[in-house]
Amino acid sequence: MALTQQRGGPVAVDLTEAGLFAAVPRVEAFMDAYVASLALPRNLLEAVRYALLGGGKRLRPVLASHCCAAVGGDFEAGLPAAAAVEMIHAFSLAHDDLPALDNDDLRRGRPTLHIAHGHAMAILAGDGLMSLAFQMLAERCADPELAGRLSRELAIGNTAMIAGQVLDTLGGFDAGLDARARLEAVHRNKTGALIRAACRMGAIGGMWARGVDDALLATVTAYGEAVGLMFQIVDDLLDVEQTAEHTGKRTAKDEQAGKLTYPAVLGIEGSRKEIERLRQVARSAAETLGASAAPLATLADVMARRTK
Ligand code: IPE
Ligand code: IPE
Ligand code: MG
Ligand code: MG
Ligand code: MG
Repeated sequence: MALTQQRGGPVAVDLTEAGLFAAVPRVEAFMDAYVASLALPRNLLEAVRYALLGGGKRLRPVLASHCCAAVGGDFEAGLPAAAAVEMIHAFSLAHDDLPALDNDDLRRGRPTLHIAHGHAMAILAGDGLMSLAFQMLAERCADPELAGRLSRELAIGNTAMIAGQVLDTLGGFDAGLDARARLEAVHRNKTGALIRAACRMGAIGGMWARGVDDALLATVTAYGEAVGLMFQIVDDLLDVEQTAEHTGKRTAKDEQAGKLTYPAVLGIEGSRKEIERLRQVARSAAETLGASAAPLATLADVMARRTK
C-alpha cells in the first residue's frame, strides 16, 4: 500500500475499497486474540465469539483507523480503540435483536445470537461484551491515561446509544419536539454517537503522543457526527429498499414496527437529499483536515451509497 508522510505519521493513501478496509483483518485478529485470552465459561466465550467474530462490515474500526491516520497517528497504537468500539457495537446488535426490542431472527446472514444461543445467553453475552470493551482498553492500552480517556469517550457513546435505543423502542422524548426533531434525536443517539466515538477515539489515539489538538479533534468530531447520522438514514432506506438475502438481516420491518424513520418522515427522496447533505458536510470536514484525510472523504462516499 502506498504510504505518504503527513503530520509526522504514515498515512494510507490507497483509496480503493480494499485499501480503505485494509485494517479489518488486523482488528479482527486483535479481537480474536483478546477473546481467546479470557478465562470465561466456554459457553459464554462461544456466544461472545458468535456475536463479535461472525462477519460485519467493521465500519467503526475502519473509521477509527482513518481518523487516527488523518491526524498523523500510527494505527498499530490505535487497535485497542478500534476493537473496543466494535465490541460495544456487537453488544448493541445482540440486544437490538432480542424479542423485547426488534425481535429479529437474522443478522449478518445467520441466526441472531438469541436464536443460536438462547435468550438468557444473548442478554449475558451482550452484557459481557459491554464490560469486556472497557476491560480490554484497560488491559491493552500501553498508557493508562490514554486508556482512561478512551474509556470516557466510549462510555459517552455507549450511554447515548442506550438512550437512543430507549427513545427508538419506548419513546420518552422531551416535550415539544416535532417528528423531525424526534427522529434526529433517535438516530444521533442510537447510531451516530458510537460512530462519533469511533472517530474521536481514533483521532485521540493518533494525537496522544504529541498532545491532543482540540481544533483537530473538533473537525474529526464534525466528520463523525455527519457520517454517524448519515449511516442510520442509509440503514432506514435499506430496510425499505433491500432484501434480507442481500443485507443479511430482515428488511421491510421498520414500518410494520411503527419505527420513526427518515423514509417515514421525509420520504425516500427527502431521505436521499439528507444523505447527500450530510455526505457534503463530512467531505468538507475531511477537506479541512487536509490530504491525510483523503480516505475519510472517500469513506463518506462509500457509506452514503452502500447497499448493505
Ligand atoms: C447495523 O450496523 C446497526 C446500525 C447501527 C444501523 P452495521 O450496518 O454497521 O452492521 P454490521 O456490523 O456491518 O453487521
Ligand atoms: C440499531 O438500529 C441501532 C443499534 C443501536 C443497534 P436498527 O434496529 O435499525 O439496526 P438494524 O437494522 O437492526 O441493524
Ligand atoms: Mg433497533
Ligand atoms: Mg434492529
Ligand atoms: Mg435498521
